Amino acid sequence: MTAELSPIDNAKYAAAQRSVDFVESGMKLGLGTGSTAAWMVRCLAERIRNEGLKVTCVATSKRTADLARELGVTVVSLDDVKWLDLTIDGADEFDPNLNLIKGGGAALLQEKIVATASDRMIVIADAAKEVAQLGAFPLPVEVIPFGWETTKALIEETLYSLDVLNREVNLRLNRSRPLRTDEGNLILDLNLKRIGNPRQLALVLNQIPGVVENGLFIDICDVVVIGNGDGRVTVRDINSGRVEDTSIDLAQSANIFAELGD
Ligand code: 5RP
Repeated sequence: MTAELSPIDNAKYAAAQRSVDFVESGMKLGLGTGSTAAWMVRCLAERIRNEGLKVTCVATSKRTADLARELGVTVVSLDDVKWLDLTIDGADEFDPNLNLIKGGGAALLQEKIVATASDRMIVIADAAKEVAQLGAFPLPVEVIPFGWETTKALIEETLYSLDVLNREVNLRLNRSRPLRTDEGNLILDLNLKRIGNPRQLALVLNQIPGVVENGLFIDICDVVVIGNGDGRVTVRDINSGRVEDTSIDLAQSANIFAELGD
């Protein structure tokens, strides 16, 4: 069986395939969540199968853990290993400083804990995720269910003193019911259009009672791997300033898709 992949899937595959080149045998690895991260788990599983690569992984969501285990990747808890060499994850937006918006897949809490517990974080993304300024993608904020409407009102009030273009806050739904995260919490999506000072916003949001964590990842990402639909990949390292352009053979993507399933 072969599968015809869309340009966006090819872009995600290209970024994911390049990112697993950074994985070395013996590493403790954080596995992100989302469709791009799922491609990375498939590419990693291929390397494990073909090269006998030995890695110990921590997943950032139940669905990533399930996928990884299904493909024969060893998954342990963060408490088992405590610290990681590398985390590879997707993002909803990244800016020129490699600050991120994450949480489109509602996994931002575990994603931030895992990325922060890693020596290095690599973000994999298609080129459309690159923005000059964060905020077009609604910022996810995880809140506890108790008193969530009060927490929402407090967030709305706080936004009035901050440099954002829009101040709309929505409870995220899943099939018309409030979405629950892996921790049983709720997600509020902040439709801000433009975030003038992401660092300040991230700090202020986390001071509001009821807020567990927000989806702004500030100074956490080290490298971004940007994929394009034609297989071109750019690797940008924020610490060294190095930029590398390569190309990935897309013929492999259909094979991995067919062999490992979606
Ligand atoms: C999940 C995330 C994802 O990494 C982000 O939403 C990107 O997902 P995708 O790769 O499917 O576009 O933050 O909480």
